Amino acid sequence: WTPPVSLSSASDKTSFAYESTVKRWPTILTGIIDELARINGSLLAPEDDDKVKESKELISKLAELIYEMRHDRELPLLPATGLPDDITEYNAELESARSAGTPLRWFNASWLYAECYMYRRVRGLFASTSHWATFDCFASQKIEAFRSSSKGIHTLATAVAELVKKGKTDDEAVLHADWQAMLEVCLWGNATDLSLLTSLTHEQIQELQSVERGSKFVLKDDFLKSWEHIKSLKDARIDIVLDNSGFELFSDLVLADWLLTLSPYASEVVFHPKLMPWFVSDVQPHDFTLTLSSLLDPTFFPSTNGATEEEKVALKEMVQRWQRYVDEGKFRLSTPLDLQMGDKGGELADSWTTAYPYSDLPEKAPALLAELQKSSLVIFKGDLNYRKLTSDANWSPTTPFETALGPLRGLFPLLSLRTCKADVCVGLAEGRAEELDQEDPKWRINGKYAVVSFVPRE
Ligand code: F6P
Ligand code: MG
Repeated sequence: WTPPVSLSSASDKTSFAYESTVKRWPTILTGIIDELARINGSLLAPEDDDKVKESKELISKLAELIYEMRHDRELPLLPATGLPDDITEYNAELESARSAGTPLRWFNASWLYAECYMYRRVRGLFASTSHWATFDCFASQKIEAFRSSSKGIHTLATAVAELVKKGKTDDEAVLHADWQAMLEVCLWGNATDLSLLTSLTHEQIQELQSVERGSKFVLKDDFLKSWEHIKSLKDARIDIVLDNSGFELFSDLVLADWLLTLSPYASEVVFHPKLMPWFVSDVQPHDFTLTLSSLLDPTFFPSTNGATEEEKVALKEMVQRWQRYVDEGKFRLSTPLDLQMGDKGGELADSWTTAYPYSDLPEKAPALLAELQKSSLVIFKGDLNYRKLTSDANWSPTTPFETALGPLRGLFPLLSLRTCKADVCVGLAEGRAEELDQEDPKWRINGKYAVVSFVPRE
């Protein structure tokens, strides 16, 4: 299946795809170089010599990558780097374009392909070293951003503690209001995407995260449809295809906690992480475990964070409960918790870091699809997942979301929670996009707006 419209690509100079390729990606790659250089400065012991040598080689390969991008070079085939063995898909795309006479370059490739390729290329560089093979080049950024979210974290923990104090209810009106509130938290938590930090400050991002944004900026609002679905469930399995680590993952865990602790709807939540550093801030298994242990570490947040004793207790009790759910297997990752990059055992998760849109899941990842079909609701978080759900194509904004899903439509109940950070946007009412073009020309990409899209199983 291919969408009947063209794909987003940096060949359109007015697109965010173009801006990303020209500005954001070189900045992200330069950030990795800076990180390596910083670490090198602390590796002074003679036994570190080899490690520093490898790091310097990595720096020069990353600089070459930036050069290639700036000069719109052809994308070379990815070399084999051991597990995950996903290069076949990436390379097949390059080879087929080459044999059709239009080899893929940074600016003529689809934006989705080129961006995934970039992160996979970086992963390959690290994977072929011996000292940096499992190094997460974005780890320090993720932790730093998480640490600066203390205020939102303590506020949310206190709100959850209040709910827990009231206990479980079977009052539908209360459950409906709570479901809506939880989804809003989880939705706006998606504003915390570190790959956007190249264009926004931490403060601007935290402002976007603010729960008070509620549903006013939601351009397609399927909250009610999702409620009709969730309230029909009992002790079900819910899956969350994770996006970013830090505050967003925290908000996902809050939703999962509400489902298990305070609602009758679910008894198991399965989280799907990525197995390589991905779009800067995406969750890997080690981020998941580190999130829980950091939240339980009283020294993790800066001592100046201003949290009250009551807030600290609320957070501790909540995270202890999460840890219990993990121990009991009620919260689980779709991969082993201690999986390291390149280990065996993550084959299902490898499909999340390929470049194909999810309309290809039935054909390219039947095992993963079968897994998702065991779920009573699969929640896709964030912008990149939305781009993959809609094939990152130049749909007219009034195209129904169901149409943009292609063959994925109706295979399992699906809810997408996405703040708008890329060109593609579907499911809007007639005339709405034109209004927004007038009111706020950057509405598609500035993270202020969101789309909530639900499609049932057919
Ligand atoms: O590089 C752009 C992009 O893909 C945007 O679509 C978005 O800003 C970001 O990267 C990823 O966002 P998210 O973390 O919400 O998937
Ligand atoms: Mg992300």
